[in-house]
Amino acid sequence: MNGRFVRLGERDRTTVNLVVDGAPIEALQGDTLMVALLTQGVSLRQSEFDPGRRAGFCLMGACQDCWVWTRSGERLRACSSEAREGLDIVTTQPEATWPLHG
Ligand code: FES
Repeated sequence: MNGRFVRLGERDRTTVNLVVDGAPIEALQGDTLMVALLTQGVSLRQSEFDPGRRAGFCLMGACQDCWVWTRSGERLRACSSEAREGLDIVTTQPEATWPLHG
């Protein structure tokens, strides 16, 4: 198992290709970004409060724990944004400097 989420069904949907932190990944059409990222890894983004990483919490758009960013700086909730062909995602907030990260 490579990811925090395990895909149990609907494995025959069309594949979409996106880039996460410069690395290509495949998702399935209709996946949220959260599903796309967490079926292939254990976290979504760098925490702004400590050196750890975050993987979302509520899964329904309320907690703000699943932010990821497009390469151009648009902020997206991974739990409620669809994984679209060609998206280029970064998991550390662009141009942010957090006190705990120097
Ligand atoms: S996981 Fe809570 S807003 Fe996305």
